[in-house]
Amino acid sequence: MADLQAIVEEIHAALSPRRGEGRVADYIPQLAHVDPKKFGVAVVTVDGAVHLAGDAQEPFSIQSISKVFTLTLALGKHGEALWKRVGREPSGSAFNSIVQLEREEGLPRNPFINAGAIAVTDLVLAGHTPKEAIGEIVRFLRYLADEDDIIVDQAVARSEQATGFRNYALAHFMRSFGRLDHPAELVLGVYFHQCALAMSCRQLARAGLFLAANGTNPLTGHRVVPHLRARRINALMLTCGHYDGSGDFAYRVGLPGKSGVGGGILAVAPGKASVAVWSPGLNDSGNSLLGSLALEMLAARTGWSVF
Ligand code: DON
Repeated sequence: MADLQAIVEEIHAALSPRRGEGRVADYIPQLAHVDPKKFGVAVVTVDGAVHLAGDAQEPFSIQSISKVFTLTLALGKHGEALWKRVGREPSGSAFNSIVQLEREEGLPRNPFINAGAIAVTDLVLAGHTPKEAIGEIVRFLRYLADEDDIIVDQAVARSEQATGFRNYALAHFMRSFGRLDHPAELVLGVYFHQCALAMSCRQLARAGLFLAANGTNPLTGHRVVPHLRARRINALMLTCGHYDGSGDFAYRVGLPGKSGVGGGILAVAPGKASVAVWSPGLNDSGNSLLGSLALEMLAARTGWSVF
């Protein structure tokens, strides 16, 4: 394999002319203000090498990528009992779909669709005020990335709080089935803030490194989760991390990944590296268009596909 830094730079250079393609999410008004030409790539290997290209050090709204980290936190608190509250099957539906919830008695298909992530956040909230739960999530990300300058973008959180009608509907619907322990407004208060976390590709790749290294962050030596749990979180990312685009992502990239409507994707190459890409323009499934292409090229060049 050629030098990894050269590969990362070549991929960035090859795709740069296409910056601005795709559609920037605007259903959360504050997200529409982002420069559509931003494009960053960060690869952090399990032996600690960091390879960056483009806007890899600029914070962006991680949105649904946060669901990987709240799932990790909630599994730590509740263990396998978590699976009484949320399933482990791909939904084949859009991230914010409500149709399955009625047929399946308010039990979300998986922890990465919005309904499932809201159910997971309800579990993170157990025994806490919303403010404490948000603080716990932020501290967890700082611990994982081993960096203190990770914050919640309050303007993004407020913007979603003011317009997240679909998420209110999902949460109230689940509560009507007795699937949430806390009032919908409290759970969503936490959920909107976790989605509004602002992180750079470099920080995200560092934060995801434990998933590439059997549950232990090789840079800090912190054992975040047991090996088996890391493997299982990766399995869920592979099968459910891109919603109704998960099959296509597995086919093209072949790595566990989690996307967010801010245009970020976190991908895990087990035993090799953690990768974060960011480009705000989204494809038809609501996943970063350039980001998906960059990961497809990276997997092809490195042979990192899990298959
Ligand atoms: O709940 C929402 O709609 C957003 N905070 C997050 C959605 C998201 O990132 C979907 N991912 N592609």
